[in-house]
Amino acid sequence: MPKGGTMSTHTSVVPVRAMLVLGTRPEAIKLAPVARAMATGTQFEPLVVTTGQHREMLHQMLDLLGVDVRVSLDVMRSRQELSDLTARLVADLGEVMREQRPDLVVVQGDTTTALAGALAAFYEKIPVAHVEAGLRTGVIDNPFPEELNRSLIGRIARWHFAPTPRAARHLTDEGVPQEQVFTTGNTVIDNLLWVLAEGTGNSAFRTGARRILVTLHRRENQGERMRGMGRALRRLAGRGDVEIVLPLHKSPAVREALLPELEGHQGISLVEPLGYVDFAATLAECDLVLTDSGGIQEEAPSLSKPALVLRTTTERPEAVEAGAARLIGTDPETIVDAAGELLDDAAQYRRMAGAGNPFGDGRAAARVLAQLAEDFAADVPVTVSAPGPYSTA
Ligand code: UD1
Ligand code: UDP
Repeated sequence: MPKGGTMSTHTSVVPVRAMLVLGTRPEAIKLAPVARAMATGTQFEPLVVTTGQHREMLHQMLDLLGVDVRVSLDVMRSRQELSDLTARLVADLGEVMREQRPDLVVVQGDTTTALAGALAAFYEKIPVAHVEAGLRTGVIDNPFPEELNRSLIGRIARWHFAPTPRAARHLTDEGVPQEQVFTTGNTVIDNLLWVLAEGTGNSAFRTGARRILVTLHRRENQGERMRGMGRALRRLAGRGDVEIVLPLHKSPAVREALLPELEGHQGISLVEPLGYVDFAATLAECDLVLTDSGGIQEEAPSLSKPALVLRTTTERPEAVEAGAARLIGTDPETIVDAAGELLDDAAQYRRMAGAGNPFGDGRAAARVLAQLAEDFAADVPVTVSAPGPYSTA
């Protein structure tokens, strides 16, 4: 048995108390299938803790979880700084974990909430499962601070649920033991397929013009770079044959960059963040996606929508390699040219739209649960420390 950490053993009779920690829109979307699956079975008791790193954008996603929130923190501050946010999250989550004593903490992705959740669990000697593990650009500050966050969570987690074989390989290359890495697909595809099957969303597009869906929010793009992207969108709208829908992230920095460039401009609809059901319907109806979002890079190929990724790096190269997405950077001229090409070149459009989805088959959450259930039911010690190179054993 590895040294360090407290030990908990489990039989299949007593449900595993699994604390799902989430704080932002994408975490709620991507942990929803895990929460729903836990809630419908008897092996797990899902304890959802929301940190409130996001406020409005998180609240509009909570219905997707299918379970009540057990603990709701309220950490968000306007223009929150990363260091301050991280400190408050670790302190508050540590306290919640001491009170609730879960058997397991589940975090998703690469946000400050996910890192703080993993770190607090480590300090409380509770094992961590990481959903969407192993994504890497290899550039420590791009995306900032997410690349560092997910590497650090990779040092802490006991279970690494990688969405793709490439992500799994990154982890084993870094020394994570093979037997702790599981390729599951991405839970975002589970959720997208589930929501579309419900079929109740309303698209935000209003006209019959060519439909472009745009989202922008990344910290490394904010400021002059994002203003330049705004100017590129204005030029695209100037073609006269497109309708651009841009659900504006709540971040003041994003609004400061984009509103002066785009507000009131013909052909551009700036809307508030869409609920997931409506966003899925809007994505399903668009012709083309321009985005710096992680999740939307995964969703667009599932619906055969070509995606232009407005970033200089991506931790999701699978879509680019499959031909479903292009990483085009942030230069306004390049954005206008690449979008124009896709709109005007039917053959290129067909190639990208038909490239397929490398991110999952809609059964990722089931694989996550099956693995956790097997390990807890096996009655083997589940400890915080892994028997790999990161262990203190
Ligand atoms: C965070 C994540 C990023 C993820 C994104 C999803 C980190 C470091 N970054 O970035 O990985 O892609 O969420 O959208 O965790 N705000 C509101 N209302 C809201 C949400 C945010 O007013 O509902 C404001 C906050 O006060 C803050 C700003 O928006 O000042 C940015 O939010 P923050 O969570 O710090 O970072 P994001 O850029 O959203
Ligand atoms: N999304 C949404 N409404 C919107 C914009 C995005 O529901 O108005 C969803 C989208 O489907 C995707 C997720 O939010 O699943 C992406 O979130 P975001 O871009 O904020 O974060 P990232 O994925 O980059 O971390």
